[in-house]
Amino acid sequence: MRRNIIQAVCVMGALLLLFAVCISACTGKRYRVDYRDEAEYVIGVSQANMREAWRLALIQEIEEEAAKYQNIRIITTDATADVEKQKQDVEKLLQFGIDLLIISPCDTSKLTEKVEEVYQGGTPVIVMDRGVEGFEYSLFIGPDNDMIGRQAGETVMELLNGKAGTVLKLCGNIHSIQSQERIQGFDSIVEKEPRITLRAQYMDTELKDTAYDVVTAMDGTLEEIDVIFASSDYVAQGAYEALEDMGMEKSIKIVGSEGFTGEGESVDMVLQGKIAATISCPTGGKEAIQYAMNILKQENGVPKQVILRSHIITKENASEYLAGQETEIVDNGQTITVGYSQVGQESQWRAANTYSIQEAAKEFNIQLLFDDANQSQERQIAAIRRFIQEQVDVIVVSPVIETGWDEVLKEARAAGIPVVMSDRKVTTKEKDLTTIYIGADFLEEGRRAMRWICDNIVPEGKTLNILELKGNKGASPTEERGKGFAEVLEECPGYQIVYSEYGNFTYEEGREIIDVYIQEHAWDIDIIYSHNDDMALGAIEALEAHGISPGTDVKIVSVDATKDAFRAMVEGKLNCAVECNPLLGAPLMKAIRDMVAGKEMPVRIITEEKVYDQSVAEELMNQRMY
Ligand code: AHR
Repeated sequence: MRRNIIQAVCVMGALLLLFAVCISACTGKRYRVDYRDEAEYVIGVSQANMREAWRLALIQEIEEEAAKYQNIRIITTDATADVEKQKQDVEKLLQFGIDLLIISPCDTSKLTEKVEEVYQGGTPVIVMDRGVEGFEYSLFIGPDNDMIGRQAGETVMELLNGKAGTVLKLCGNIHSIQSQERIQGFDSIVEKEPRITLRAQYMDTELKDTAYDVVTAMDGTLEEIDVIFASSDYVAQGAYEALEDMGMEKSIKIVGSEGFTGEGESVDMVLQGKIAATISCPTGGKEAIQYAMNILKQENGVPKQVILRSHIITKENASEYLAGQETEIVDNGQTITVGYSQVGQESQWRAANTYSIQEAAKEFNIQLLFDDANQSQERQIAAIRRFIQEQVDVIVVSPVIETGWDEVLKEARAAGIPVVMSDRKVTTKEKDLTTIYIGADFLEEGRRAMRWICDNIVPEGKTLNILELKGNKGASPTEERGKGFAEVLEECPGYQIVYSEYGNFTYEEGREIIDVYIQEHAWDIDIIYSHNDDMALGAIEALEAHGISPGTDVKIVSVDATKDAFRAMVEGKLNCAVECNPLLGAPLMKAIRDMVAGKEMPVRIITEEKVYDQSVAEELMNQRMY
């Protein structure tokens, strides 16, 4: 009797739900099926497919993290690797009235438009893993697959120990962007060694049985193979079982990737000596829920991209890696001492950056030892050595230039003090000398500047001459803004850079460069591209002094998007400002507290940035926070 009642209730419930969804489908309205119960937020999760172990692990991590919150409910859909179905899944989730969408796209380009539509429609979107084109989403969280490939390549090189050898790339899901990036990263390392012969077996899926069959079918040609690079966990398992059945498991080493920690999965296989190593590929499910809550509560400091860290797991560190996975992160709230080496005071951007860091330190209970290097690398190195002597908990550096840091960073590592890169990056000969990078995507900023020019300043029958005002030589923003701009310039006929000079990000030098140019040349410049606002504003002063009308006689595009840049756009003297967000204090201090509490740090956290022009300048100027 009781069972019948329960069955009847279930049937009624299902009919109600079906009825509700039908209403929504007919009226096209978003219908909040009243299954929220106590849930304050409903998060829709659109997964590309549920057949790949990594994707199942992502869903499991999302659900485990969500279970820690009383006020959220998760609805998950499985697109079964079908693009059209994933688009329909997203529509259904919207009709359920979700508050935020988490999506791991089947296909980067084919899902871009749908993600843009949802984001622009006002529903926050967290994109995971494969990403989409452009930046029309709230946040991207994913691994650096190129790095995973490079780490696998480095591991293979170590296994060959400088000897000649033959390596088989056994890669599944071959048409996916993550496999392509892993292969690209792998090749970039292994191809440097001419004595290594590369062979490849690419598969459409990454099922264990497919890998097993492919390796088994290679019997008779496997003798020459020394190492197999398997692009995922299941591929590694299939390859191992095939070799074992052919009695070859001892003669061919395997390097896997994904680093699942379940029984019989790759970390277990490493511990059992079945495979030589695996490269972890974190899913980001936990971070997705944590950031989703920040977004839903409209908290500050949510970045644009979080790129997760991967590890080379071998028999030597596998147990430690597993233990680390279980570590409970506890922030005891104690004061953390941070030594901060700042570049200097060269620009308004820098002033806003310094203020943001100093204010956030107070908010996050960080004792800040702050040194302003006034553009001197020597002074920054001295400051870092002082911080080491004072045994600070964490060192943060915004480096004036990219190179020349190896020695002092090794000293910090020897002292057991983690170093965080803020705003700008360093390039070191040795790996792992710094932890996380928090800042902008300077390359993309350069691209955006030229894309705006290409879209808005049309050559009419003549090639337009560009004068470039560059930051200080060797600084990552200078090099990357120049490179990104040049990349898009190549795609846009009708423009040429005719003059390019270092202005060191300062107002005075921006003005001086224009003065000198005018003295030495008949004025023939159509566009000025300035790596920051201060140089652009100095250039504007010089142009006006010479009777040239900035913004009309010559178009000006700048990077930073400070309030003065907005003012210049309102006055018609600047045409476009590409944003570079200096307000790094909150995400930086939050990351430091998480790191000291034992949380694994992403490789890099990239800030949210937009492009502004005169069409929006007046409306937004007073909202600018710097
Ligand atoms: O590193 C960021 C750059 O440094 C900013 O674009 C510039 O204004 C600052 O001087």
